[in-house]
Amino acid sequence: MRASCHNMGAEGMDVQQQILHALEKNGVVISNEFAVSEKETHQKVVGAIKSLESLGNVINVKQIALKTWECTDEGNNLATSGSHEARLFNSLPPEGRSLTDIKASFPNSNFALGAAMKNKWLKKEGEKVIPAVSAIEDEVQIHLKAIAAGGENSVPDKIKAEYKKRKLIKEVDMTVFEVSKGSAFTTSVMKQEAELTKEMIESGQWKGKTFKPFNFKSKGRIEQRSGYLHPLMQLRSEFRQIFLEMGFTEMPTNNYVESAFWNFDALFQPQQHPARDAHDTFYVAEPGKTISVPEDYLQKVKKTHSSGGYGSIGYQYDWSREEAHKNLLRTHTTAVSARMLYKLAQEGFQPVKFFSIDRVFRNETLDATHLAEFNQIEGVVADYSLSIKNLMGLIKGFFEKIGITKLRFKPAYNPYTEPSMEIFSYHEGLKKWVEVGNSGMFRPEMLRPMGIPEKVTVAAWGLSLERPAMIMYGINNIRELVGPRVKMELILDNPLCTIDKFRKQDQPDTSSGPTVESLTKRQELILDRLLALQAKVANIAANMGVKLEDSDTAVTTQLTGGPQLGIIHDVVIYADPRRPPYSLRALANALSTTYSICLRVHCHSTVKEVSEKLQQFWGAKYGVDRSKSSVCLTLVWRQDGDSPTALMPTMTVSPLAANQVCGEHNIGRYLSRLVEVATHSINLYECSSSSVFTAQIDELLDQCHSKFTLGNNRERTSYVRELSAKLDKESYLVGSSITLADLLVLSNLLQLRMLESAPSNVLKWSKGCLEHHLCKYFI
Ligand code: PHE
Repeated sequence: MRASCHNMGAEGMDVQQQILHALEKNGVVISNEFAVSEKETHQKVVGAIKSLESLGNVINVKQIALKTWECTDEGNNLATSGSHEARLFNSLPPEGRSLTDIKASFPNSNFALGAAMKNKWLKKEGEKVIPAVSAIEDEVQIHLKAIAAGGENSVPDKIKAEYKKRKLIKEVDMTVFEVSKGSAFTTSVMKQEAELTKEMIESGQWKGKTFKPFNFKSKGRIEQRSGYLHPLMQLRSEFRQIFLEMGFTEMPTNNYVESAFWNFDALFQPQQHPARDAHDTFYVAEPGKTISVPEDYLQKVKKTHSSGGYGSIGYQYDWSREEAHKNLLRTHTTAVSARMLYKLAQEGFQPVKFFSIDRVFRNETLDATHLAEFNQIEGVVADYSLSIKNLMGLIKGFFEKIGITKLRFKPAYNPYTEPSMEIFSYHEGLKKWVEVGNSGMFRPEMLRPMGIPEKVTVAAWGLSLERPAMIMYGINNIRELVGPRVKMELILDNPLCTIDKFRKQDQPDTSSGPTVESLTKRQELILDRLLALQAKVANIAANMGVKLEDSDTAVTTQLTGGPQLGIIHDVVIYADPRRPPYSLRALANALSTTYSICLRVHCHSTVKEVSEKLQQFWGAKYGVDRSKSSVCLTLVWRQDGDSPTALMPTMTVSPLAANQVCGEHNIGRYLSRLVEVATHSINLYECSSSSVFTAQIDELLDQCHSKFTLGNNRERTSYVRELSAKLDKESYLVGSSITLADLLVLSNLLQLRMLESAPSNVLKWSKGCLEHHLCKYFI
């Protein structure tokens, strides 16, 4: 590796030297011409020029955009093997060949014959084609070779036009470099070393070397990539965690293929039961039969099915061993529960709490919400004298842990449980009770043949993993969750606290996104880790005798929230061009009074075109370089649908890029705080003269959001009337100076084009606001 690198360096050096000598001789070097004359690739020459340029003023470089010619694949082919006509000429023996023979065997014979005749290389004699000259010069090949090597100037334009028509060559754009002598021109540059090596030190060579300066501006890798769990698997691990917290033990579910015996018979499911039909169950053809089932247990199962026992009369039919031995893909994980309960009875019963989460298979018609396979979550609790009360309590505890508190039970039927209950939960979003699982107490007809003692009862419940996952991720089509159409973004963007997000479904009054509580916890955890890391670094530095700058406050304040000066705020705002968030302009303006601020506008691919005005959204205040600014606001115009929430702007602030701030009102709150921390003189929100005002502003912001952004037209107009009544008494909405509330209301009225028809005092107020110096760029 090292040797070859070194060689490359030396070769590059040669070209650099050649360029310098050519410069000394001719005063100027054009990169592409130089490449042709020196028989080097253009790329290599450009590389050498760049290296020379980096030395300072040795050379001056000017870029020139050029159009040049390049061979197509076919052109390259002819350049190496010769034109069709030349190949035909060369293939003919002196006595020639018959026309039919040539046509049958020579590729492109028609074209080759025509061109060779035209060139008078061949002539016809009766049926035969014979050479007319003794030797030829293949001009086509010579031209194409020249073009391939970059020497297209030697080929006349008329011929190039003809080759272009024949698709042998094409025109391409090219950037070439014109090099001239610089103020510090010299032909004896030395290669600058990038590294000081052990060898240089030992040999003393380093004394005569020059070294490349360090690049202190080079950026480290910011983004730390790691592996991600598939959302479904992430949810599985969370459910697993819940079971483990509740003291459950995981059952071994590592067999998709099961016998009908364990899947159905052991569960007292009669052999005529419709679910055992091939329309509902996938049977396995090879191997079609299970190898063995414990014989004495099988006999007990057979007896219970056909004639009963343990206080039951059974199903009164001829039980078939054949049927029970069939192999199938398990249709539920209750098959695993049956195996485990049997094993438990054999080993001597002890109370247990078991769970499993794994895949099961059903021969279902595929549709948007069903696949032929899904994951089942199952909980089983076996103990003396458990009753349905215990089952209900267990289920309640379990669902509470995933944030589902409103539960109802409905009597149901399962062959293996009595009583059986379907579990329903109230879905606030859908405003109805939805089924979330199935449950019951296992029947004695199932438990006693296994050898589970008389007084023991077993409570169990099951649910699918996909259903809550689809609700949580807001997915309507199962194929967006399972299979090749799963979007990577779903995996990359999915929040850490998924189950908390689920909680939101049942409590719509909490704001969107993960709950504050879970975010705080997560943040604390990150902080703890960061502080531990910092301590480590400080320790290492101290051991090395290095004094660190006081950097820890930067990290922590950035994470503990609260905008701070001196840190870079990299804010990205997505907004729909149909609802430009005008208030943010005033805030950007306010920010620019203290911060060196970088303002940018981009257009996402979902937006075809935006007006000049929106392209210049931030007004005239562009210009500060991103690296020199402490706040960077990037606005991205994006269209994401027509719903009120899709029309709402969103904002991400690094480094907490996982958290989105939604809505112009909330973005406004964030940016106003930033303004206030910096200026103390521009008080738009929290630092406004009293906290009563802040509360009033808050109320107005929320109202404005719910009436204007989320409301319908009727709500909007009546709210304007309300505001108008307020403005009868005051010149601003809150207090005697402009606040965030004024900015947001004004922005909404502009977006919704409601200002024209607004009452006169609202109009007057809007004029007053627009005259305020912060609103210079408002519209
Ligand atoms: N096996 C049931 C199903 O597939 C779920 C269940 C498990 C019901 C345990 C009762 C007890 O739907």
